[in-house]
Amino acid sequence: MVYLLLQGLQLIVAATATTASKHTYCKLTQSCWPPKEIWADLNTTLGGSLILVTPVAEPCYTDPTGTQCANIVNNYENPYFTTGTPGSREYLNFESCGTEQCQIDLLINGTLGTCSLGRLSPYAVNVTKSSHIQLAINFARMYNIKIVVENTGHDLLGRSSAPDSLLIWTHSLKAISYSPKFRIGISATPAFTLGAGVQAFESYTFADSVNMSITGGNCPTVGIAGGWFAGGGHGPFGPLYGLGAEQVLQVKIVTPDGILRTLNSNSVGIENDLFWAVRGGGGGTWGVVTEVTFQAYPKQPFVLVSFSNNIVNPSDNSTKALLTEFVETLASIQSTFAGLKAFGEYYFSPFSIAGIYYVPTEDTVLVENTFAPILKFFSKWENQLTGNSTTIVAFPSFNSLRIAIPDNQIYGFNGVLSSRFIPKNLFANSSTISTMAKALVDGYYINVPDGSPQSQIPAIASIPVTINAGGPLDHTSTTDTASHPAWKDIYWLVTYATGWTKNLADYAELFSTDVSAAANPLRELTPGFGTYFNEADISEPNWQESFFGSNYPKLLEIKKEIDPHGQFSVWKGVGWVSGADSSDYCY
Ligand SMILES: Cc1cc2nc3c(=O)[nH]c(=O)nc-3n(C[C@H](O)[C@H](O)[C@H](O)COP(=O)(O)OP(=O)(O)OC[C@H]3O[C@@H](n4cnc5c(N)ncnc54)[C@H](O)[C@@H]3O)c2cc1C
Ligand SMILES: *[C@@H]1O[C@H](CO)[C@@H](O)[C@H](O)[C@H]1NC(C)=O
Ligand SMILES: *[C@@H]1O[C@H](CO)[C@@H](O)[C@H](O)[C@H]1NC(C)=O
Ligand SMILES: *[C@@H]1O[C@H](CO)[C@@H](O)[C@H](O)[C@H]1NC(C)=O
Ligand SMILES: *[C@@H]1O[C@H](CO)[C@@H](O)[C@H](O)[C@H]1NC(C)=O
Ligand SMILES: *[C@@H]1O[C@H](CO)[C@@H](O)[C@H](O)[C@H]1NC(C)=O
Ligand SMILES: *[C@@H]1O[C@H](CO)[C@@H](O)[C@H](O)[C@H]1NC(C)=O
Ligand SMILES: *[C@@H]1O[C@H](CO)[C@@H](O)[C@H](O)[C@H]1NC(C)=O
Repeated sequence: MVYLLLQGLQLIVAATATTASKHTYCKLTQSCWPPKEIWADLNTTLGGSLILVTPVAEPCYTDPTGTQCANIVNNYENPYFTTGTPGSREYLNFESCGTEQCQIDLLINGTLGTCSLGRLSPYAVNVTKSSHIQLAINFARMYNIKIVVENTGHDLLGRSSAPDSLLIWTHSLKAISYSPKFRIGISATPAFTLGAGVQAFESYTFADSVNMSITGGNCPTVGIAGGWFAGGGHGPFGPLYGLGAEQVLQVKIVTPDGILRTLNSNSVGIENDLFWAVRGGGGGTWGVVTEVTFQAYPKQPFVLVSFSNNIVNPSDNSTKALLTEFVETLASIQSTFAGLKAFGEYYFSPFSIAGIYYVPTEDTVLVENTFAPILKFFSKWENQLTGNSTTIVAFPSFNSLRIAIPDNQIYGFNGVLSSRFIPKNLFANSSTISTMAKALVDGYYINVPDGSPQSQIPAIASIPVTINAGGPLDHTSTTDTASHPAWKDIYWLVTYATGWTKNLADYAELFSTDVSAAANPLRELTPGFGTYFNEADISEPNWQESFFGSNYPKLLEIKKEIDPHGQFSVWKGVGWVSGADSSDYCY
């Protein structure tokens, strides 16, 4: 069987070499789709690791009162459960395709209708070794089937699902090790080597156990050796050490030609280019990563600041001024925070304001002083703010901080967002800060206008604006990666989001249109800047420039060389062409 697959590969390569730019894939309903016996053969070749994918909520359609459904309902919002099944994505709209779906709505009990795969893959390869990937790539090429790669399913552009595809699922690659002296050539440095499926919470726990630190994102269930580093990767260590992509010492990847390659700073030729491209040039684009080695750092204490206040009268016409002043207050202390290498996430909606920030120090008094301008803001607005809760606590490591704070991850709904980088020059003085704050807050009210349809349907309309403060700002890294060059010139990444719980055909478009427009005031204010494609708008305009900046032309050249037949295509990823990929019809 292996022999047959490889032989098929040669023929198909010859046949498709001239049709790289347009891809019409075979669909499940067509006669070109391989019959069950062929899939069974593939399964045998794979040593039994082929999974017939069923949507995670299917038991609730077949037996709504059964214990299996009860278990699904209990875990539907729980990412530790849902990231462990290829029949689930963190945002339900990326499981569904138009009205084809298998969602359950936890807010409304109604008729469920028919459960269908939506944009989930009919089959998944549960990868435990690189030969599984090689076989899957060859099989997909032979039968002209779309390939999709999934790790945890967090992708916010829906890039880890595609209809009628063969899923290469890397979740089970959980190996993790620490080497005090990892060598590339003659230089040795402490490093962690992670299988692609290792999630942030697992890497933080492991790093603690050897008294070291590893960089990662703020979300514990994101896969740091999958989409996170491949997109750039921001997080609590960003201001101290730079982007996730900049911590990468070595990557093992199976490229579209089926070759397992080891990429590092000693690589030459196309592998040297590819080592650059995989660090920031996007997931699902260059092949399938099996393992990543990250720089390890000494154990790092942090002081945590966390605060939240409810807004007494959200509809009062002073609320917008309050929110604007909140943003101005945070912006005015940003350069101080940058000097302290602090990482923050701030949230606001007309219902509440909140924030957390982490300062890499043991000096609690120093951090209390940084909070003074925020306290001043609180007291100015004390008649409009209630339920003031503020915490300032020191922790010996990021992992100990992480497990001490509430793990508020909730999924199991439909979600879309938009976002924009905020350049440092907008923090120059009170006049630029007030222009920026106005545009930022205006965006919220575009997303959730009064009387919008969101208020009449089961929407989660109060999803706050998120300001990621920190990123890799002011770090000293000189590592050249493919991550957006704008990261070096920004202080904040702002995101607007909307969520809804019931899948009706029109909703996705409706919400998407509003959330997309929310970023327009900031887009207009920051020409030439862009955003972070790992946290972005599916309908982002001028996506090549916005997502990749000046790196795009070089990335496209590398893409053509490494994936000449366009087997790894993701929505608005490098080499993507609007309308060219027949599997894009669910967007
Ligand atoms: C709640 C939440 C919080 C977040 N917080 C942060 C944050 O703090 N910092 C930050 O930088 N980002 C954050 N993100 C964004 C996150 O980085 C992206 O969603 C990222 O793409 C997730 O990668 P994944 O591998 O976990 O997800 P997946 O959805 O499984 O994959 C993401 C992309 O990578 C590809 N991919 C996955 N595995 C592989 C592989 N082994 N080889 C090749 N390609 C692969 C997929 O095809 C897809 O294109 C957050 C997202 C969410 C939903
Ligand atoms: C693949 O084989 C394994 C082991 O025999 C079996 O458990 C699994 O159900 C098979 N997968 C498919 C899609 O048939
Ligand atoms: C839906 O049904 C469950 C179980 O019967 C019940 O607990 C819940 O309150 C119902 N929800 C609504 C919104 O009616
Ligand atoms: C995937 O493979 C791993 C390792 O063999 C196994 O533990 C796990 O149960 C499999 N997952 C699924 C969904 O089949
Ligand atoms: C980590 O540090 C603690 C406290 O200093 C020590 O007790 C422990 O043995 C160390 N663990 C490792 C793996 O070095
Ligand atoms: C708020 O409303 C009051 C009366 O309802 C009005 O006098 C005032 O000018 C309004 N303020 C703003 C900022 O619009
Ligand atoms: C909010 O809480 C902080 C810390 O407990 C306190 O110092 C401050 O005075 C409070 N501010 C308001 C407006 O209540
Ligand atoms: C504020 O900074 C901007 C951008 O650097 C500059 O153009 C402007 O003149 C400054 N305004 C004031 C009042 O200092």
